[in-house]
Amino acid sequence: MIQFKTVIVASGLLLLSTAGIAGATDACVDCHTKVSPGMVMDWKASEHSKNDVTCSTCHGDAHTTAEDSKNATLPDEAVCAECHQEQFDSFAMGKHNFGWTVLNAIPATHMAPDELIEGGRGCGGCHNMGIKTEEQKKDQLEKGYRYQVNSCDECHTRHAFSKKEANNPRACQQCHMGYDHPQWEMWSSSKHGMRYFAKKAGDLPEGAAAPTCQTCHLPDGTHENHTAWGFLGVRLPLPEDKQEAADRVTILKALGVLNPETGEPTAILDAVKAVDMARLDQASWEKERNKMLNTCTQCHSKSYAQEQLEMGDAILGKADRLMAEAIETVAALYKEGIIEKPAGYPHNYPFLLTFMHTNGANWDEDLDKLSYIDQILVRMYMKHRMRAYQAFFHVNPDYAYWYGWNMMTEDLGEVKELARTMRATHKK
Ligand code: HEC
Ligand code: HEC
Ligand code: HEC
Ligand code: HEC
Ligand code: HEC
Ligand code: HEC
Ligand code: HEC
Ligand code: HEC
Repeated sequence: MIQFKTVIVASGLLLLSTAGIAGATDACVDCHTKVSPGMVMDWKASEHSKNDVTCSTCHGDAHTTAEDSKNATLPDEAVCAECHQEQFDSFAMGKHNFGWTVLNAIPATHMAPDELIEGGRGCGGCHNMGIKTEEQKKDQLEKGYRYQVNSCDECHTRHAFSKKEANNPRACQQCHMGYDHPQWEMWSSSKHGMRYFAKKAGDLPEGAAAPTCQTCHLPDGTHENHTAWGFLGVRLPLPEDKQEAADRVTILKALGVLNPETGEPTAILDAVKAVDMARLDQASWEKERNKMLNTCTQCHSKSYAQEQLEMGDAILGKADRLMAEAIETVAALYKEGIIEKPAGYPHNYPFLLTFMHTNGANWDEDLDKLSYIDQILVRMYMKHRMRAYQAFFHVNPDYAYWYGWNMMTEDLGEVKELARTMRATHKK
């Protein structure tokens, strides 16, 4: 709150006494042209510099010498909201606003080195978005991390803060790539992405239709992002098909959301609800689905687009059959006492939210007991099931089959083979 006040005072001054602030700004710019010229160049190229939004508007004017730089305020999102309320409000309603909280709700986070979390390389480098509570800020400072207090420089980076940059799909690439969410790889090698690049190269006319991440996920300048299925690819109510419903229940148990013994909801379900991780009723799922369908119909017929999206839903059901069979195979080993429940697991049952494979080289002894077969299960869910269904929505045949479905069948085969050997070699 103190930070916030400083800025109000600073922008108040801007209105009341332009001369005073202009002096301060000149001093900031003069000195920083020597200290950090790249930063000043960026700011000079921005809309902000053209509109008298200066260094001190965002950073206050408490720091004036080379020695007292720690007096400078690092502006949080509330500072941007003073002039950009609309974007702040829609950001606050979207999924990106949960990035930091969700990260810290996962047990694995507390087993990883701080550099990978608060330091912002690793999990914390992609999950740094989210308006932090006072407690979260305090916690971060206590661990010795002063930066990463602002979410708004992730797509339009400081200090250019450019709208054009944020509209480039590359703005999403750093985070939406790789292991469990290769949306960049899938989109950029799909017909949608290919058209975008052909258009940029001048091989398609300027007006050619080529949807980007922003076209489908941040339409009309909104900063609110949600999808119907969400990352975990589970939702309520359960499907009508009996087998499919049973398979989803198995996955919900392995996510720790349902108690494996009783089938009752657990405290993890409340955590999932609190960070909006899954759509928990038909209406909220349909709302997102219909928004997306409307976007597709800018360029495709409704029946075409609907068929494409429904195939994505259908493949999830089929992928869940493979996934559930693998989970049940490992669950039997827990039940028979062949696998011992690792510390930190909520139940005597496989748990998918460990978010890591350890391959024996453990940093944390809590994870020493994580068996190899459990790691295959996590990989099957996080890497291959993700690809199998995400590729349908991002129109990528290779990810759908070779990197997705086919790898899931390979995982299942490995799980079954390992279970056989574990049973055969287990000493009573
Ligand atoms: C006399 C030179 C000088 C002046 C004047 C100056 N700065 Fe700085 N500023 C520095 C130096 C040196 C650093 C520290 C760089 C480093 O850590 O290597 C710094 C750091 C900063 C930081 C980063 C703080 C942090 O915690 O890393 C901000 C923000 C900043 N200055 C903003 C401003 C603003 C706003 C003004 C004008 C009100 C201003 N500076 C005036 C020299 C100056
Ligand atoms: C529109 C608001 C805004 C303006 C104007 C602005 N900054 Fe910043 N600045 C930020 C934000 C946001 C951060 C990142 C804070 C964080 O998350 O840690 C930042 C970070 C910094 C840092 C530390 C991080 C780094 O990359 O080294 C320095 C130094 C800095 N600003 C200097 C300046 C200077 C000098 C000016 C004027 C030429 C300026 N800023 C103008 C918003 C602004
Ligand atoms: C004192 C008011 C003020 C503050 C504080 C402020 N801005 Fe701005 N911002 C403006 C004005 C004025 C413009 C130019 C007109 C417009 O686009 O609304 C602008 C433009 C922008 C643009 C569009 C640039 C373009 O290429 O068209 C972005 C993005 C942006 N600001 C982001 C931020 C972020 C992020 C913060 C906080 C770190 C911030 N602003 C803080 C006033 C402000
Ligand atoms: C390369 C960037 C990146 C790294 C590194 C990363 N994540 Fe993520 N994470 C994401 C993205 C992007 C999503 C959303 C993906 C989607 O919806 O397909 C996500 C989703 C999640 C979700 C689900 C959120 C929800 O509401 O559905 C959790 C939990 C999570 N990550 C935890 C972690 C943990 C723990 C780590 C470190 C072990 C980690 N992430 C590392 C980018 C990253
Ligand atoms: C996930 C990426 C992303 C994040 C995070 C993000 N923005 Fe944006 N922002 C965009 C995109 C994309 C546009 C361009 C929208 C358009 O073309 O209308 C944009 C445009 C803007 C504009 C210019 C609006 C206009 O029409 O001139 C402002 C101002 C802005 N954002 C402020 C913010 C603020 C404040 C935050 C943090 C609360 C923020 N943004 C966080 C992606 C992002
Ligand atoms: C700094 C990393 C980062 C950047 C940059 C980023 N995202 Fe994200 N995105 C995330 C993380 C982390 C999540 C998951 C947050 C959560 O759900 O808790 C996420 C979630 C999403 C979701 C929601 C998925 C769901 O579960 O419903 C969409 C859609 C999305 N991002 C689109 C975009 C687009 C489009 C861009 C570029 C304009 C972008 N993101 C830029 C990190 C990032
Ligand atoms: C043609 C429209 C379209 C484009 C372009 C597109 N997406 Fe998606 N995206 C979708 C659809 C459809 C879904 C699934 C929505 C649902 O759950 O029903 C989705 C889902 C997602 C999700 C949630 C998890 C998943 O993969 O199913 C994230 C995150 C995401 N997209 C990010 C991105 C990013 C980043 C880009 C650009 C590299 C991108 N998308 C390009 C349509 C698109
Ligand atoms: C901005 C326009 C635009 C939007 C929006 C858009 N598409 Fe496309 N889509 C195209 C174009 C153009 C092609 C290339 C057609 C071709 O391959 O001949 C294409 C190709 C496809 C293909 C591959 C066709 C093939 O023959 O391989 C599928 C599937 C598809 N889109 C589905 C969707 C879905 C689902 C959505 C909404 C989530 C969507 N598209 C949104 C323009 C768009």
